[in-house]
This record gives sequence, C-alpha cells and structure tokens, in this order.
Amino acid sequence: MQIPAHGKSHQEVMAALDAFGADDLPWREGGTFAYVYEAGREVEALVKDAYMRFLTENALDPTVYPSLLRFENEIVAMAISHLRGDGDCVGNFTSGGTESCLLAVKAARDHARRVRGIAEPELVLPVTAHACFQKAAQYFDMPMRLVPVDPDSWKVRPEDMAKAINSNTALIVGSACQYAHGVIDPIPELGQLALDKGVLLHVDGCIGGFVLPYFRRLGVKVTDFDFAVPGVTSISMDFHKYAYAAKGASVVLYRSKELRRHQIFTAATWTGYSVINPTIQSTKSGGPLAACWALLNFLGDEGYLRFAERKLQATQAIAAMIRAHPDVRLMAEPESTLLAFTSDQFSIFPIVDAMRRRGWFVQPQLGYMGSKQNIHLSIDQSTLDVLDRFLPDLDAAIEEAKRSNSADLPAEMKAMLGAIEADNFTPEAYQQLMTAAGTADGLPEGTTAINAMLNAMKPEVAAKVMTEYFNDLYRPTA
Ligand SMILES: Cc1ncc(COP(=O)(O)O)c(C=O)c1O
Repeated sequence: MQIPAHGKSHQEVMAALDAFGADDLPWREGGTFAYVYEAGREVEALVKDAYMRFLTENALDPTVYPSLLRFENEIVAMAISHLRGDGDCVGNFTSGGTESCLLAVKAARDHARRVRGIAEPELVLPVTAHACFQKAAQYFDMPMRLVPVDPDSWKVRPEDMAKAINSNTALIVGSACQYAHGVIDPIPELGQLALDKGVLLHVDGCIGGFVLPYFRRLGVKVTDFDFAVPGVTSISMDFHKYAYAAKGASVVLYRSKELRRHQIFTAATWTGYSVINPTIQSTKSGGPLAACWALLNFLGDEGYLRFAERKLQATQAIAAMIRAHPDVRLMAEPESTLLAFTSDQFSIFPIVDAMRRRGWFVQPQLGYMGSKQNIHLSIDQSTLDVLDRFLPDLDAAIEEAKRSNSADLPAEMKAMLGAIEADNFTPEAYQQLMTAAGTADGLPEGTTAINAMLNAMKPEVAAKVMTEYFNDLYRPTA
C-alpha cells in the first residue's frame, strides 16, 4: 500500500474512520469490563473539547508552554493531596500506568547506583504486581525476584518479601489494589519492611489509587496505602482509568525531590538542542494534560465521590451475585472496583465468548502460580445502570460454560501442550497450534480454545505464542 496519490475530502476521510471503527468493542452504556471507563456523554464532550484545545501544543518544553506546566503542576498537586502527601512530595504527569511504573523503577535503579553504590540494583515484586514492573526489569536490565502471594487472600506476605530482599535490592513493590484479584497488599507492613531494610517502596495505585480514598470516605475499610504510610517512597496513580481522563493520563509521585532527581534524563552531549526529559516521552501533545485538568475541575471532588458511590454499589451487587452462585466463586472479596471469579467444577473460559455474544466484554486471566484461570471484571459507575441485564446474562453465560466442554482439552492434548519447552518451540509448532485453535489467519472468532491451550502451556511457552501472534498481527497492509 502507498500513500494515496490524491487526497480525499474531509467528509470522505471521516466516513472512512467511522467505517474502520464499526467492528471495535462497543464501550458505551457499560458494556465493557476492562479497557474503558465511562462517565457519560457530558464528561466525554468536555474531555474532547479540552483535549482538542491543546492537541497541538508540545509538552516537550514547559518553558515555552507555561499553560502545560501549570496544568501539570496543578494536577500533580491535586494527586499528592488526594494521596495524603505533604509539601515535600513532587511528581510528573505521564502517558499511563506503565510509564509511571517504568519511571519509578528507573528512578529507584539510579538512586541505588548513585546514592547506595549498588552496581546491579534489583527489583522485588509480588507475583500479583502488574506486568509493567516485569517490563521495567526487562527494559532496564535489572534482576527481578518474583514473590509468591498468599493463595487465599492473594496478598503478598511481608515475611515472603523480606526473604527476597538482599543487599542489591533497590525497590520493592506493593499494589493498591492489584489488578488480577482486586485486593490491597499490606502496605503499612511493607513500609516498615522498606524502612528496616533501607530500600525504596513503590505503591502501584494505578487502578485503585484514585478510587480508594473515596471508598474510605464512603465507609469502606481501606488499608492505608498512600503517603500517610511511613516507608512509601513513590506512588503511581492513573487518571485515565477511574478518573475518566482521556487516555494518556497518569502521575508518578515521589516523597521528595531527592528521589525524583533520578527519574530525569538530561543530555547536553550531542549537537542538537538540550534534551531534558522528566518522563519517557519527549515530544508529547498537551491534549491529555488539558483534558485531565479540565475534568478534575468539571467534576470536582463531589462529582467523583458520587461516581465512587455508584461504583461501590455496582461492585457489591456483582460480588453478591457471584458469592451466592452455586457454580462459581470469588477469588477474593473485592476491596476496590475489581474482582475475579472462577469455578472449581468447569473451565470458565467459555464465559468470555458467551458474554460477548450477549454484548458484554469480560476478561479471561490465565492460571499462574496458584491463581487458577478466572474471569476478571473492572466494574464502573456505568455498570450500575445495566445490572438488571448484566446479572441475568452472566448467569446464563455461566450455565453455558457449565454445559459446554469445549474448554476442556483432551488429557493427551493438555499433556502434550504442557510438555512443550520454550527452548524448542519452533515457528512451525506455532503455525500448527494456530491452525488447531482456529486462528491461523487474523483475529480469532472465539477465544475459548486458544485460552484453554495457552492455559495448558508453561507460561514461558504461552508468552512465546503470544509474541508470535502479535508479530504476525501487525503486518503491513499489502
Ligand atoms: C495496578 C496496575 N498497574 C499498572 C497498570 C498499567 O497501566 P496502563 O495500562 O495505563 O499502562 C494497570 C493497568 O490496568 C494496573 O491495573
């Protein structure tokens, strides 16, 4: 494909965009339980207006865009106060949770090298910490120790974290809450551990950090997880999740400027303009900053509290339905807006497609280190208005999964898949697998078979399959 020889009209181009979007996941009216957070048409319109107003401004250089610097400093100040930080706390606006966590790891690595003289700084992570920390370890070439968690509560045990810490440990991580099961790690104990061992502690509040202070005000018992906890040295919190900002909105916060210094990349050793990058991106649109600032001012604390109340009600209603259901069980009691459920009688993978046919998107999670295959739901305020359709549909989908045996792979096949070693997994074996799963060409029709197969493999092999799959999916249009 080449750049079209002749341009099209504005109208034609926009019509083409609409046509492209026809098969996308429909997210309005509470249909998706991952990826999208919905606060209604009025909020959507404001976010889009504010985004467009600053779309073209470049946050690369805050000295020539005082507007963007002001947005960022005000957003970060609001985030610090939301998380009970004091006047010494600082932070930056980033493109998302992954970037915030990558930066916290990078800052911790360089702090360990420069301040503590550690040549090879390491990372200690509960197995429930978001995969972006493993990405950080890989990108920044840091040894990483994965710590198993309690198989009933899915929270990490401080004594297990303590065992994994050594003289090279730069940073330990806890989540509030963790994504998979929606529970909060024992942050006060981890804070004490960090102080005792002289290491840094990052709290990943990407998904829970914004909502949890509201839940506390609504009477929910919330474990302390923020700057009120001694020993917490940095926190990440996303605005593009439960704060409804446009995608590309998160913050990484530090207890002091001393720590944040290690996040900043500066280069004066090349022939071009001086590069000073506090974050990973260099050139970046002012749109996400403006939209985030606009929304915080539009909804205000009161508006967010109202939304939090609706999220809480919806989460409690869904948790109650699952708790009472004879065929499925909650993996843990939800402490925020996320939950996971599984079944001890049948594979839950067919629920994903059964729900999709009914117009809902729910997320499968593969089994790993004792956490068996399950369905994850990120519950939103918009969910509350559709519960009367969602709950019966979920019930029907569970029934369908119970009757279906399509996810139950034959024992020989399971054994065969489980025996594959990552080292001898060839491209030919990958092609055979894709054919068997019915996904040889393009996007899969149904997800049940492929999830069952991935779940039967060693995690390193499943990761290789997924790498190959994406390596094929992104192919230039002929
Ligand atoms: C706890 C947690 N941390 C980090 C992330 C990564 O955030 P993002 O997808 O914005 O990069 C997520 C995403 O869901 C998350 O739930």
